[in-house]
Amino acid sequence: MTKRVMLCHHGDITDPGAQGFDPQQQGKDTVFVVRQGGHYYAYADICPHYGDTSLPWKKDAYLDVAGENIVCAAHGALFNIRSGLCTSGPCQGDALRPIPVIHESDGSLWITLEDE
Ligand code: FES
Repeated sequence: MTKRVMLCHHGDITDPGAQGFDPQQQGKDTVFVVRQGGHYYAYADICPHYGDTSLPWKKDAYLDVAGENIVCAAHGALFNIRSGLCTSGPCQGDALRPIPVIHESDGSLWITLEDE
């Protein structure tokens, strides 16, 4: 079974910008969405370098200062925003797990989750 979960309205995320979400009510952000150039990219908030490490050092701090890369605060891995591929750091060549984003005409952003 799958279920659709609304994350936010697209205007809630600056461009460029990122925001974390807790769509499964786990008490921590497990998914994040990056907005860049009017496009939206969602990934599981798990760094491929180590265990189930969350990327940001504080709420929603998923991007580097320039807003050009996703960054993992633990050991500084940089990831391409569009592909999720690690381009620099200890897990170079690995990738974040992408999550398809549905962008509805009313501006709402949704993802589909597997029901547990
Ligand atoms: S856990 Fe992300 S770079 Fe090490």
